[in-house]
Amino acid sequence: MAIEWEEYLSVGVERIDNQHKEIFRRINSLMDAINQGEGSLRVADAVDFMGEYIATHFHDEELFMSEACYAALDSHRKEHEKFSQDVTMLKKRIMIDGATKMNILKTSQVMISWLVQHILVTDKALAHHLSSSRGQEINSPPWINTKKETI
Ligand SMILES: [Fe+2]
Repeated sequence: MAIEWEEYLSVGVERIDNQHKEIFRRINSLMDAINQGEGSLRVADAVDFMGEYIATHFHDEELFMSEACYAALDSHRKEHEKFSQDVTMLKKRIMIDGATKMNILKTSQVMISWLVQHILVTDKALAHHLSSSRGQEINSPPWINTKKETI
């Protein structure tokens, strides 16, 4: 099952949103390949791509947070560092042992937990901060009903 980028995840900055969309696309495409039994053919390229792509993405996102005087910048940056280290570790394991089942499994765990724990939670908190500082209502996740009940 794919985890799709949806409008409520927007941080309100087109460049960052487009980068997040690309990350979702790449991870979903890798998951599809794994489900079709083609993980061993795709995992090395996917990890290489992610290693390069996040370097630019994290740089852009951190610059943006710093310009917006975002109080949680340090803890947010630590999550970026941890994911970068995880991707470097995956790259090394694949280089040394090849695209083994264990390395494919580990890669999918790292990528999915990145989507779920970082983009859906930590980046969403950033979006919340940015929209409140602009005095805008935030896009809530679809499972939260923000409509006021009228009697
Ligand atoms: Fe982030």
